[in-house]
Amino acid sequence: MSDLISKIHQDHINMARILKLISSEIDALVAEEPRDLEVLDDAMRYMINYADKLHHPKEDIMFRRLQEAAPETRELVDEIFNEHQDITTKGSEFHELVLAVEYGDFVLRKDIIAKGKDYVQTLYSHMRKEEENLLRTAQKLTESGGGLDLGVEASELIDPLFGEGIRKEYQNLYEHILNQYGDDWRHPAHRLV
Ligand SMILES: [Fe+2]
Ligand SMILES: [Fe+2]
Repeated sequence: MSDLISKIHQDHINMARILKLISSEIDALVAEEPRDLEVLDDAMRYMINYADKLHHPKEDIMFRRLQEAAPETRELVDEIFNEHQDITTKGSEFHELVLAVEYGDFVLRKDIIAKGKDYVQTLYSHMRKEEENLLRTAQKLTESGGGLDLGVEASELIDPLFGEGIRKEYQNLYEHILNQYGDDWRHPAHRLV
């Protein structure tokens, strides 16, 4: 597997970790249990600042190259491009509701639960399509005779939470992840969910 494809794959594993954490906070909301809004806020900031602003734009470059090299991926790649925009919108809307609750504004519980669940579901199914189809095709083409250049270097994907050196603003989130899920999260199995 090329460094780039394995980095994108690792990003998906990491994002699935964050979605699991977001889901458990949503479950706490459903059960009317105390929940950690600060963690939810941090998790969404990570998704907005890394997934939406770096991971998805880099995929746009890669998948555009893939689409040109493998016409059978055309429709799915167009779908993926649309989903990148949709995920950004859904993520920002959900984050705004989280911030509103954090600041003590009135937000209907059912609204934040519905938005959160929709966001998590949309992103899971999006990553599955990328993993099961596009990354496999990209891998075949990069390893074949001429080798497809996907136009991105793995080193451009600097992850502020799971990469080398955790940015200070994500320290609490990282500690929460380790406390909640243990050291297994340092060495995730190479699969989604
Ligand atoms: Fe994507
Ligand atoms: Fe992705």
